[in-house]
Amino acid sequence: MGRATVRVPATTANLGAGFDSLGVALKLYNYIEAEETGAGLSIEISGGTGNFLPTDEKNLVYKTMKYFYEQAGKPMGGLRLKLENHIPVTRGLGSSSACIVGGLFAANVLCGEPFSMRELMCMAAKLEGHSDNSTAAIAGGFTISVYEKEDIFYYSHPVGEDLKFVLLIPDFAVTTKKARSTLPGYYPLRDVSFNISHAALTVAAILSGEYENLLCAVDDRIHEPYRKTFIEGYQKIHNRLKSYGALGTYISGSGPTMISLVEGDDAQDFMADMQEYMQKSHPDWKVMLMDADNEGVKRLN
Ligand code: HSE
Repeated sequence: MGRATVRVPATTANLGAGFDSLGVALKLYNYIEAEETGAGLSIEISGGTGNFLPTDEKNLVYKTMKYFYEQAGKPMGGLRLKLENHIPVTRGLGSSSACIVGGLFAANVLCGEPFSMRELMCMAAKLEGHSDNSTAAIAGGFTISVYEKEDIFYYSHPVGEDLKFVLLIPDFAVTTKKARSTLPGYYPLRDVSFNISHAALTVAAILSGEYENLLCAVDDRIHEPYRKTFIEGYQKIHNRLKSYGALGTYISGSGPTMISLVEGDDAQDFMADMQEYMQKSHPDWKVMLMDADNEGVKRLN
């Protein structure tokens, strides 16, 4: 009977203008321990986030593993899953992506690794419906991905400690489904052109380390104007973060978490100012300072 433990990072997607393409893996993890048993299903959840998630056949890690076994043409016997979750759920930090990636990679180990990393990336993007979170969770670092015709093209670039991610995590949830349903199906050419230029500049800023360009680059017209309406006081917080020296602030993935990008040397001062402000204005929000994860999904045993 096989056994596998994998660690999967949280991810922040879009980074402003790079809707459904740009992503960064963060040093905040879910752990998935999977063990084949003779029969039945047992799921234990610990770790502080996602304790309310289903522990039966509706569990996303389990559903993903079941899908994997079907794709691999292998019968699925019994399974014991231990899930240690630290990624906040429905906050725009890639928690569902972590379940999908973790399920696929654990199942791949249990089945003798029939699929390559790229094939697993395609499966993850297909299951999620977009490739930005899952590609970053798999490859690590800053990723640019294009998922097209069931194939994936991507580039991954390590992010140093000179760029920090400050997470402002609200005390309320917004599902990706709801956040996507608010978006228009079509956009005027001026908005499309705005986003192409801003996404391109974001990529250049992160690859070159010329972070001052992020100030303009992370602006977006595809999703933020619609999604910020879910976050009360968004503009006020945004302005504050800018005045404290944020390089740029954007809604992480489908939200509602907001992320400020900050130069490594400025991070401690930024955190002090921001924590003081948030304690007064939004005491129930969680604030975290993060580095990027450059390893991606990792098998621990
Ligand atoms: N690109 C996706 C979206 C990310 O913005 O809907 C979801 O986390």
